[in-house]
Amino acid sequence: MRLTRPAQTPALDPAETDLADPRLYATGDPHAIWLTMREHAPVLRQTLADGRSFWSVVRYHDVNDVLRDHTRFTSERGTLLSTLAVDDPAGGKMMAASDPPRHTALREPLSRAMSMRAMRRWEPRIRQMVLRLLAPLAEGTPWDLAEAAASFPMAFTGTLMGLPEPDWPRLTRLTSMAVAPTDSEFQEGRGTLVAAHHELFEYFADHLRATAGTADDSLVGFLRGMEIEGRRLRQDEIVYNCYSLLLGANVTTPHAIAGTVLAFIEEPGQYARLTADPALLTRAVEEGLRWSSPANHFMRYTRRETELSGVRIPAGEAVVAWLGSANRDRRVFAEPFAFDVGRSPNRHVAFGFGPHYCVGAPLARVALRILFEEIVANVGQFEQAGPVEHLASNFVAGIKHLPVTARLLDGAAERLGAAHAAGGPLPEAVL
Ligand code: HEM
Repeated sequence: MRLTRPAQTPALDPAETDLADPRLYATGDPHAIWLTMREHAPVLRQTLADGRSFWSVVRYHDVNDVLRDHTRFTSERGTLLSTLAVDDPAGGKMMAASDPPRHTALREPLSRAMSMRAMRRWEPRIRQMVLRLLAPLAEGTPWDLAEAAASFPMAFTGTLMGLPEPDWPRLTRLTSMAVAPTDSEFQEGRGTLVAAHHELFEYFADHLRATAGTADDSLVGFLRGMEIEGRRLRQDEIVYNCYSLLLGANVTTPHAIAGTVLAFIEEPGQYARLTADPALLTRAVEEGLRWSSPANHFMRYTRRETELSGVRIPAGEAVVAWLGSANRDRRVFAEPFAFDVGRSPNRHVAFGFGPHYCVGAPLARVALRILFEEIVANVGQFEQAGPVEHLASNFVAGIKHLPVTARLLDGAAERLGAAHAAGGPLPEAVL
């Protein structure tokens, strides 16, 4: 998605805009529309050509309410626009599509297994993956950072979930197909979304069969051993949650990386500030998350009639919380359209808010911190080496292509080159 500063763009009429149209996020200017909406139409109902309708919520505090308050807004009927008006079969089975108390029972053990403490011991391995990711920079030729970043989360979730490395490229592609089924680079025939879901669910069902009875201390084995409400998880529940973990990691993390690097290119002063003071790194990572907001929306349904920003929403309606908009709300963020590596406070909602707050946030934060530590230690400056291309998706604010070259710091070419030469598959790891 284009991360614009919309003051420079002519005002648009939100009532004439289709916020569900994936093309808007590939070539349009959603930030310009949201800016107008935050001021003039913060809660707006849209009806699609096929008669389905949903409400859009764009202000920070309304977005928080929708994500947080499961007594008014349920996740069980589906949480993405791609499932609008079709009750999600994963409802009550997949953590992301459950409400408390079922949600809490699913989430508590998993969030312990994926806590910041649990993730710490992964750091050396993640650093190894990061160096391997950045190694092509040593060659000095234009390198598509966005394309390379797309495979990065698969390296850590694939390892964490104990999935065989030869499967990773296909799984990466399938998760992109699931979130951008109409994007020309990911479309495979007319039923791309259904086909991707089918293949992913089959994959995990086969994987469970193949690993049954083995000592599996990966995250998949953890799900298999998990108990809720006095029983083990059923196979379909394990499959849905494996799918959700994989999707959650694969489709978001790469765009936080590409969005942040693009901001460094557009604002070289901010990158210089960071390299001069690496203590800003944690804040810079959080600002990159706010800036890129890779998870663009999440949806809920109203359980009863409710009100947001003075607008009445009847019971049973779909409500879409636009996270990318909330993260530019001037009511909460000073100069929201400025990329500021030292921003503090920075209460962004890139990881959501409330009970569904991203369970993978500790892992994502560790991975992003290590990646940007290595970037700051090795890269003096990035330069854009070709056009940026954006993903056609209303769910993922994504960058597909970002060709860059880098001016490396002394010794960096050797260090990255050595990581490249190390090559080969990564050693197995366990929780
Ligand atoms: C920059 C990276 C990431 C971003 C921006 C992101 C964003 C989000 C957001 C906004 C939610 C809230 C969904 C809701 O309210 O309905 C969420 C939930 C979730 N995320 Fe992430 N995520 C990231 C990384 C990850 C990773 C690395 C994993 C897995 C390893 C993951 C797995 C999940 C899961 C399973 C949920 C559902 C949690 C629940 O329902 O309690 N995410 N993520």
